[in-house]
Amino acid sequence: MAELLGISGSLKTGSYNTALLRAAAELVPEGSALDVATVHGIPLYDGDEEAQSGVPKQVEALKARIAESDGLVIATPEYNNSMPGVLKNAIDWLSRPPKDIRRVFGGRPVVSMGATPGAKGTLLSQTAWLQVWRALGMRPWLETSLYVGGAGKLFSREGALTDMETRKRLENLMKGFVAFAKQNQPPS
Ligand SMILES: Cc1cc2nc3c(=O)[nH]c(=O)nc-3n(C[C@H](O)[C@H](O)[C@H](O)COP(=O)(O)O)c2cc1C
Repeated sequence: MAELLGISGSLKTGSYNTALLRAAAELVPEGSALDVATVHGIPLYDGDEEAQSGVPKQVEALKARIAESDGLVIATPEYNNSMPGVLKNAIDWLSRPPKDIRRVFGGRPVVSMGATPGAKGTLLSQTAWLQVWRALGMRPWLETSLYVGGAGKLFSREGALTDMETRKRLENLMKGFVAFAKQNQPPS
């Protein structure tokens, strides 16, 4: 049994990536769970604000949820061939202060996925995230990948993942990641 935490890198109501994450929560193997968190409302990182008031409460709360999870599931859009600033900004706040990085991220299993109307399925964005996982000392699961291109044809208007092949691939990804997460917990 694994208790996973999912974060979408999009704030948009009709986001493909948030929809993909919701589908992942449905398809997680029985006995495990994927709780979906949001980065809505996280301010832009500002070193002056941090020096004056510390890390915002909302960021501390999300840090605690990550630290309690057995693994992180990231659904990332791709912007200009790389990661979206909204999610990078959130991860940057979550990595403050540096003394907490080990507790929150160190050795923690992480997997990414991503959806785009474009052809390459967020390959470049997901590749860019690898540098960040390394900086935070995370443990990325790389055996299976999910690059969802042509997303406009794969989701219903209500945001349900309707394409059966993509659902199967997502289910396999979640199955593999749960097994990996169970076997690769950071020492407490
Ligand atoms: C600033 C910006 C840059 C984008 N750059 C890319 C890109 O490099 N590759 C790509 O596949 N899609 C790109 N897109 C399109 C996004 O994939 C599309 O808006 C997608 O719906 C975003 O994910 P979401 O639906 O989860 O919000 C870009 C969109 C924006 C707003």
